[in-house]
Amino acid sequence: MKRLTVPAIRRRKAAIAAGEGEPLVMLTAYTVRMAQLMDPQCDMLLVGDSLGQVIYGLPSTVPVTLEMMAAHAAAVVRGSYHALVVVDMPFGSYEASPEQAFESAARLLKESGAAAVKLEGGSAMAPTVAFLAERGIPVMGHVGLTPQAVNALGGYGARGRSAAEAAKIVGDARAVAEAGAFAVVIEGVVEPIAVEITNSVGVPTIGIGASAACDGQVLVAEDMLGLFERTPRFVKRYGDMAGYVAERVTAFADEVRARAFPGADQVYAPKE
Ligand code: KIV
Ligand code: NA
Repeated sequence: MKRLTVPAIRRRKAAIAAGEGEPLVMLTAYTVRMAQLMDPQCDMLLVGDSLGQVIYGLPSTVPVTLEMMAAHAAAVVRGSYHALVVVDMPFGSYEASPEQAFESAARLLKESGAAAVKLEGGSAMAPTVAFLAERGIPVMGHVGLTPQAVNALGGYGARGRSAAEAAKIVGDARAVAEAGAFAVVIEGVVEPIAVEITNSVGVPTIGIGASAACDGQVLVAEDMLGLFERTPRFVKRYGDMAGYVAERVTAFADEVRARAFPGADQVYAPKE
């Protein structure tokens, strides 16, 4: 199976608009085994900086480093053959200047083998998106609720409840799309904003807490599988992995304490 390319993802917009294309399927992946399991069903795998909370127990994505992103992205590339791998640029690695962003993005792609980066922000980041795109680094935008801005926003509530904020978010999405982003994530906005953006940009929109009208959907895999304790409203739980793990760990612990594990099948007999 050939790996999906950035142009193939971008072309899906026209296909969907013509009623011929299926919505894009995207999930986060941080580790090799999860990447292997999700790859066949996904168009894109996102090495999200949400790994800060999900893998490292950090309070937000703000402390996540380039080293962490590069290491997990390399694991996800090694575990995938079909999906396009997109890596989040962590907070502090791209905002200062287009040059800083290029250096950080180039490092992420060189160290991981991933094909594209994602960065948060709208109009203010448009020149940076253009700078990277013109130099061979495909960029996915991310507008609406941008978790790296939690200290400025004051929380993770849905964005765009006022007319002024709604207009700003629509303008942000258009700005990054026009700057050359190959797709745009729309996170945590009141639904009509996601519909308006999807109808007015020329690249696929990927929703999370946005709208079924988006050109694709993304979720954090651990949220969707019921492994992570935090559940925002927009997460649908497709499973109870936390319950599954807890039950099996209890079974193992009970068997060890009862000397029922290891059994005859799990020990080596001496040579005859
Ligand atoms: O880091 C992440 O997981 C993300 C998605 C939620 C879009 O950016
Ligand atoms: Na992210």
